Amino acid sequence: MRLIRGNSVLEVLLGATCGGLLVLLVGWSRGAWMPSGKPTYSPRTEDTPTSTLETFTWQARFPLSLDREPTQVFPFLLNHPDKCKVSRGVPFLLMLVMTQPQDQVVRDAIRYTWGNETTAPRVIIRRLFLMGLSPFSSSSSSSSHHLLEEDEKHGDLLQVGFLDTYHNQTLKTLMGLQWMAQYCPTTHYVLKVNGNVFLNPRLLVQQILKAEQQPRPDFITGCIYRNRIPIQRQSHPWYMPLDMFSHARYPPYCCSPGYVLSRPLALKVLSIARRVPAVHLEDVFVGLCLHQLGVEPTPSTPITFLMFGRLYNRCDFHGFALVHPFKHQELIQVWPDFQKGNTTCPLE
Ligand SMILES: *[C@@H]1O[C@H](CO)[C@@H](O)[C@H](O)[C@H]1NC(C)=O
Ligand SMILES: *[C@@H]1O[C@H](CO)[C@@H](O)[C@H](O)[C@H]1NC(C)=O
Ligand SMILES: *[C@@H]1O[C@H](CO)[C@@H](O)[C@H](O)[C@H]1NC(C)=O
Repeated sequence: MRLIRGNSVLEVLLGATCGGLLVLLVGWSRGAWMPSGKPTYSPRTEDTPTSTLETFTWQARFPLSLDREPTQVFPFLLNHPDKCKVSRGVPFLLMLVMTQPQDQVVRDAIRYTWGNETTAPRVIIRRLFLMGLSPFSSSSSSSSHHLLEEDEKHGDLLQVGFLDTYHNQTLKTLMGLQWMAQYCPTTHYVLKVNGNVFLNPRLLVQQILKAEQQPRPDFITGCIYRNRIPIQRQSHPWYMPLDMFSHARYPPYCCSPGYVLSRPLALKVLSIARRVPAVHLEDVFVGLCLHQLGVEPTPSTPITFLMFGRLYNRCDFHGFALVHPFKHQELIQVWPDFQKGNTTCPLE
């Protein structure tokens, strides 16, 4: 991967310096992370790892310039502005499913299983797949031709004009929230979910979001990580360079595979996002926004968002909202069985 293509060294370094400064400034103004109030700043040590080129590039590109709307910088290339306009009522849940352009088989599996908008009775669900530009195809004409075909058939693709890479996930989430703000401003809740999961929309809607009750304004739930220590090992996928985040621990955050938040909170996250130092781990970033807003994620008990997989079993799975990871081939296989319902399962 050519990471600094198109960036002058100056631009890259400038970006890095600004990013670093921003981290320092915001850290300065924010005080301690921990509820106990104990200072948890990690002092810079001698062995501060030198940041990778990737970090520099990423910081140079992000955050979005403050004076422009993100959609001016990264336009929606595929869009469905009317998706949330429903004749009677308003959408209860907007599902934003994160896949990459090349993942058509995954999207098909989801469409026929948990992504089916009619799976949860009595509420309106709207499902869209969010993606950026393929980082793999240089001559993207054939892949975009396939996407167009797929979108004509299903009418559910949102494509934004940025490179869909691992390090751009924060941008992807923000663009999803931006879409909600612009085109789905009446939905009660928004779910950010990755494509590699098993989801139980019925349980999510009825037991977690409690469709029959008033929506809770500052609500966010999922699998919640607390007191996590940033990983400083460069080879790790969750590597966090010290110059991007220099505190000893992250504030609480909902893990990336799937979390659901109320629309008012999503709007607050979106608006504060420009003032929070950019980190590329999108779940951590949303956690930083929540911290800045003074909002704590609501635990979902008993544990219903599983992060470390589980063998399929109908009765167990009826008690979970989300199981990660879950292969799309298996999803297709188990879904008919899952839909038989839980009536034969023993009550706890
Ligand atoms: C979604 O579910 C409804 C009702 O269960 C069914 O009629 C429809 O065919 C499903 N759609 C897809 C794409 O599977
Ligand atoms: C993020 O997307 C932008 C816009 O397409 C691109 O220039 C940048 O290289 C991407 N960053 C990474 C780290 O992939
Ligand atoms: C079946 O699931 C519903 C909600 O998903 C729950 O209220 C009910 O108790 C479950 N029944 C059994 C027998 O587990």
